[in-house]
Amino acid sequence: MITLILGLQFGDEGKGKIVDYLSGSTDAVIKFNGGSNAGHTVVSDEGKFKFHLVPSGALRSKEVILGNGMTIDPFLLEEEIRDLEKVNKKLNLKISSIAHVVTPMHRYLDKAEEEIRGAMKIGTTFQGIGPTYEDKYARTGLRMADLADPELVSDKIELIYAMKRTMLEKSEFASPSARKEMASRLVASGKNLRKFLSDTEVYLNELASQGKNLLFEGSHGSMLDVDFGTYPYVTSSNTTSGALTTGSGLSLRKVDRIIGVVKSYMSRVGAGPFPTEITGEKADRLRTLGSEYGTTTGRPRRVGWLDLVLLRYTLMISDVNSIALTRLDTLGNFEEIKVGYSYKVDGKETKQLPRNEGDLQKAEVNYRSFKPWGFLSDARISQFIKDGKDSLPDELKEFINFISSELGKEIDILSFGDTRNKTMFCSKLATA
Ligand code: GDP
Ligand code: IMO
Ligand code: MG
Repeated sequence: MITLILGLQFGDEGKGKIVDYLSGSTDAVIKFNGGSNAGHTVVSDEGKFKFHLVPSGALRSKEVILGNGMTIDPFLLEEEIRDLEKVNKKLNLKISSIAHVVTPMHRYLDKAEEEIRGAMKIGTTFQGIGPTYEDKYARTGLRMADLADPELVSDKIELIYAMKRTMLEKSEFASPSARKEMASRLVASGKNLRKFLSDTEVYLNELASQGKNLLFEGSHGSMLDVDFGTYPYVTSSNTTSGALTTGSGLSLRKVDRIIGVVKSYMSRVGAGPFPTEITGEKADRLRTLGSEYGTTTGRPRRVGWLDLVLLRYTLMISDVNSIALTRLDTLGNFEEIKVGYSYKVDGKETKQLPRNEGDLQKAEVNYRSFKPWGFLSDARISQFIKDGKDSLPDELKEFINFISSELGKEIDILSFGDTRNKTMFCSKLATA
């Protein structure tokens, strides 16, 4: 069975928790896009883990793979591996030798570019991801296998410096000795990571042909996709299902099911349109209730109501089979619950996402209100999970049924907490 997990909103939907939940019987969990701009929290019996580059399935899967579509900061990756080893997680890890390398110079450029954007700034995570993908497409990028060749590393760093001199000449990297020092640190890190390098695209195709259980873990959210998201307020990689193929080398035709993770309200970090956003004191309360602060940056997340217009679009783009709905415990505690089901643009109702920025900014949202289902104790959650979907409170059933019928999709996983045991599997998961 080959499964793809994607976030269908603006990120932080709870992908990490769902991946961890589903990864118990997997042979390999694979990441294929993004880098340390992603941040996933997984709560297990051994404690709380924050994953950035290593897949969230690392606690349970037999093997983890970082695909070619990723941008990898080798120093951070070494740290993440060390942190996992501290709790005795010997990682069976493979890294694509053609994944791109984030250098300290790219991190600097991320900040410099945001400063130049001024009022048009994106609110990036400053992890150097955008500038690294820029170099990938400019064909000046450094790849993981390059780190074995000190001369090539220096040549590429000099090339990137020459291309981006205007932004870099006021930085520490203006000094040739600083660039040299960075190059030798990168080479040293490359040496430490060399044993993990592999032609992962070939390996993955072998695993697939042996019928292994593979779980692909998408980073970010679908509305942050560089093509289909709220451009230019997006990340710099594709985050929808097509990215699996280009970011891992396995064809999407081999995937059996695509599960979209949806948070029962929404959050967004950084700038950009957010039609169902809540502001003021109400937003503060929802943010506090859900501890909505970025896993990577610690920034307070913007929060809002579930937006079905946006979900119809992201479900379509990725051809999602079924939905995992998270944070039902958090939302049920809120005194008021709303779901946006259509927009009004220039006086006309539409259920389709407007694709130009201006229309999206001025869209008014039509909402349906729901009664809160209240606080759910651990004992009640366990009982629901034992007794199934029919045993849920009527208010919650109404909320779930409305979403499912508006979207025409089954909701197969319900999440009532950050731990594995607070997860309900409603039916046999839909497959392609
Ligand atoms: P990701 O980027 O999509 O993996 O999500 P993050 O890990 O950045 O943020 C989601 C947060 O919500 C994490 O702290 C999770 O532990 C937590 N979480 C996930 N699902 C649930 C849930 O159903 N209920 C509660 N209370 N927390 C959840
Ligand atoms: P996970 O995988 C939430 C957002 C940033 C910013 C924009 C561009 O944890 O869901 P970047 O650093 O990628 O150039 O920033 O994209 N962003 C995320 N927001 N969760 C994420 O990942 C994100 N990855 C990128 O906040 O608005
Ligand atoms: Mg996150």
